[in-house]
Amino acid sequence: MDNTAEIEEEAMLHDIASMLATFVNEESNLIPILQMIQEKHHYLCVRALQMVAKHLGMSSSEIYGVATFYNQFRFYPPGKHQIKVCLGTACHIRGGDIILESFERKLEIKPGETTPDREFSIDRVACVGCCALAPVAIVNDTVNGHMAPSKVEGLILGFEIEKEREKREKQ
Ligand code: FES
Repeated sequence: MDNTAEIEEEAMLHDIASMLATFVNEESNLIPILQMIQEKHHYLCVRALQMVAKHLGMSSSEIYGVATFYNQFRFYPPGKHQIKVCLGTACHIRGGDIILESFERKLEIKPGETTPDREFSIDRVACVGCCALAPVAIVNDTVNGHMAPSKVEGLILGFEIEKEREKREKQ
């Protein structure tokens, strides 16, 4: 973990400690606590799960087991560019899986993960309500319809070019 990420995580844990103080240590509070952390910090890190376990008098593996049971929780910080691939019925029929695989292969991460440089994260989502455009991928809140593997390449290349340009402008 680089220095910035470490500082961010420390600040997050500090905040979680004060949030936990507002919850009675009952197991029934587990899901509301995890939801609150996810809503505010967008993911659950290992140390956060350990803190929750200690607060509720449960084991870390029990907490992890519950958290991984629900799709709503993620365990990596979201990337700067968040990619959500729709796998609802219409998108699935029109090759949503192939689009997901293309992103996975290109970025070398799986759904729910973030690239080590924190530039990209991938998630699967259910129908986003644009079935006529299937298969669909939402990238940074923009709907990209009629996706194809070549479009995946183009999108990622566009972000890489943009990053290079920003880097050059800073020099
Ligand atoms: S199934 Fe993908 S937008 Fe509806």
